[in-house]
This record gives sequence, structure tokens and C-alpha cells, in this order.
Amino acid sequence: MSFIVGIRNFILWALYRLMRPVIFLMDPENAHYTLKKGGVFLGSNPITRAITALLYDYNHRSLNTTVDGVNYRNPVGLSAGFDKDGELTKIYPALGFGLAELGSFTGEVCPGNPGKRLFRMVKSKSIVVWYGLNNQGAEKIASNLVNTDFGRLKVGINAAKSNVSPDFVLEESIRDYIKTLSLFADIGDYFTINISCPNTQDGEPFVNPDNLDALLSAVTEKIRPLTKRPIYVKLAADLTFTEIDVIIDGCIKHKMEGVVLTNLAKPETNQEHIASEYPSNLGLLPQGKGAMSGLPLQRISTNVIRHVYRKTRGELTIIGVGGIFTAKDAYEKITSGANLLHMITTMIFDGPQNISEINRGLVKLMRQDGFTSIEQAVGSRNPLPQLLDSAHSDNKQQEVA
Ligand SMILES: Cc1cc2nc3c(=O)[nH]c(=O)nc-3n(C[C@H](O)[C@H](O)[C@H](O)COP(=O)(O)O)c2cc1C
Repeated sequence: MSFIVGIRNFILWALYRLMRPVIFLMDPENAHYTLKKGGVFLGSNPITRAITALLYDYNHRSLNTTVDGVNYRNPVGLSAGFDKDGELTKIYPALGFGLAELGSFTGEVCPGNPGKRLFRMVKSKSIVVWYGLNNQGAEKIASNLVNTDFGRLKVGINAAKSNVSPDFVLEESIRDYIKTLSLFADIGDYFTINISCPNTQDGEPFVNPDNLDALLSAVTEKIRPLTKRPIYVKLAADLTFTEIDVIIDGCIKHKMEGVVLTNLAKPETNQEHIASEYPSNLGLLPQGKGAMSGLPLQRISTNVIRHVYRKTRGELTIIGVGGIFTAKDAYEKITSGANLLHMITTMIFDGPQNISEINRGLVKLMRQDGFTSIEQAVGSRNPLPQLLDSAHSDNKQQEVA
């Protein structure tokens, strides 16, 4: 069966490679909206959903995983930012996703940043994003989604602060998050609090420990009584380990269930990709603005996952995201400590069949390591200091003996 799925996926991959140059002739944002319209159509009735599932879906019981009480049929998820208005939930299960994070949603309607907002970097397998949290606002989206049956799909609700003013006012910002989280209290399976959008007018004020403390206190007071769903916090990619540690301590103090690692990488800290991709016409890119997904982010986010897993000794759930293109990339994030995965850029560069190909590859890689479940693989190549210590003392004892 797996062999047949492999051949199917190869054919779909070849077809996507033939179509890709045509898709890449389109402006990236127009291409995004056109593909989304196609997805809405495919999700609109049982026949198109069944045909899509036949072409793209893949199931294996060893991929089943339970995280913070939520049972996922597989750990491969769509990352926030692809479905900013929560319109495509009907088609994700047929594409093979176990979960999808919708949003980011904000308290107010957000038009996002002006001008061209998406840029492809083909050699670097990356998208430079300058969207700025465009979405229809939490009220409208929550009322559209409130009675939706998501079926096999587990749904994350990503809440960010409205990007409507360059002035940061702490109380207003907290109110904005709380408004969104309250409106979605009965929708979906988990929450993500996004404190790391790199494209907002007032920066990332919740990296500041006092601001984060105030936000998470409000979440504990106002949101916990409304819902038992796990709450995760999404971190930026380009923080120092010291800055990360402060945020992690805040998450633990306020009993958040986990973290999403990481958001996009800022070009100023990863300039070589921009320079090699746009050597003569840097003007095409928004100067000093935007941030990168995909390959430039892959190592950065894995390093953050490794650090946080070792620091927290597995105490926090980790959703790993950034530059996952193959089952090996996915497995590296899992064995570094991630319980679940998110991705977007691979769908753009490799095609949607890659979701089931990654799931199929994960089954093989787990089997090679003798694991029968995702839970067993989590963190298996990132031994916690305590385990390392006991391994060393075992070795020493053997030497002595
Ligand atoms: C077009 C686009 C829009 C995004 N918008 C959001 C967003 O609204 N909220 C968010 O938390 N992350 C957003 N992200 C970041 C992704 O969720 C993810 O962290 C990042 O793309 C790395 O994953 P990838 O390399 O698989 O694309 C966006 C990414 C892309 C490519």
C-alpha cells in the first residue's frame, strides 16, 4: 500500500513540477488567492473531497499521537498564515493534514501592510513575507466558523494583536488578544498566542518579560475559565537563547502548555540569502521589512527546538515549524523535541502531495529506529542533560568494572 502511495505521490510531484513555472509566473499573492479559491471549491462537496483524498491522503496508525489530551491522526500540520480567514478547513483532511492552525486572527479587521507583500526566493526555497496580519477580524471569522464540524482535522486558533497602529498601548493590546481568544473559546482544539509577527507597526512588544507577564496573566484570568483547550505561545526565530529562556520561564510560570517554534527569520540576521537571490535588484524586496520562511529558517528553528527541549526537559509541548521539506526534515524536528509539526513553504515549492509523502516517510524513519509511535521518537536524538549524565555514569561504571 505504502509503495502504491509512493508511486502516486511521485506522479503528482512530477505534475506539480510541470505546473510550477506557470504558477510562479503569477504574482505570489495572486497565486495564493487563486490556489485558496481552488481549495474552497474542492472542500465544498463530498465528491470533490473524496477525489482529493484519493489523490492526496495517507493514513497509518503509528502516526496517531495524543498531545495535551488532543488526539491527532498524524503530527503534520498546516502552519498559521496560509488560511488567514479560516476558509479551507473542509479540504485539509483530504490533503493529508492531521492539524491546521488558522489565522493569525486579530481583534480588529486588519488590511495588512500596503504594497507588494510576498516575494519568492526560488534558489533559497523561501518566501519573504510582508503581509502584516491581514484578516477579516475575529468577530466575522468566529461567526463563520462557530458551527463548523472539522471532522478528523484538529484545529489551532492563532491569535495575534491587531496591526493597526504604530503606537503600543499595553492594556489595549492585551484586550485585543483577549477579545479574539474569547470569541474562539468554543472553536477548534488548541490556541496559539502569536507574540512574534515580524511585520507589525509596533514591533514585537511581548518579547519584553513584563509585557508578556501581563498578557499571560490576563489569559489565565479571562480565558482559562472559558475553555480547557491547551494554549501555546509562538516565538520569533531570531531571539538569543537568553531572550528565549525569559519567554519560556514566563510560559512555565503561567502554566502554558507549550510553544510553537518558530516564526519567520528576519533578513537582517540572514542577509546572505537575500544577497544571493536578488544580487542586482535589492529594490524588489521591501528594504528592512519582511521575514523569510523555508530553507533559511530550517536550521535556526531546529536549534531553537533543541535548546527549548533541553531547557524544559520535555515539560512543554513543542510544535516545530520552519523549513520542513522532507520526512527527514520533519523527523529531525521530532527527534529534536517537537511533538507536532507545522509547514507552509513546502506546499508552494514541492506541491501538496508532499504532506502525505512526509507522513509516509515518517512511518519508515520511525520503523528504522525501532519506534512504534511518534511519542517514542520525540526528543530521541536530543538527550536531556540528566539522561546524558546517567549515560556517562553508566559508561564510567562499565569502565571501572
Ligand atoms: C505567506 C505566509 C504568511 C504567514 N503568516 C503568518 C501569520 O499570520 N501568523 C503566524 O503565526 N505565522 C505566519 N507565518 C509563519 C508560518 O506560520 C511559519 O512559522 C513559517 O512560514 C515557517 O514555516 P515554513 O518554513 O514551513 O513555511 C506566515 C508564513 C507565510 C509563508
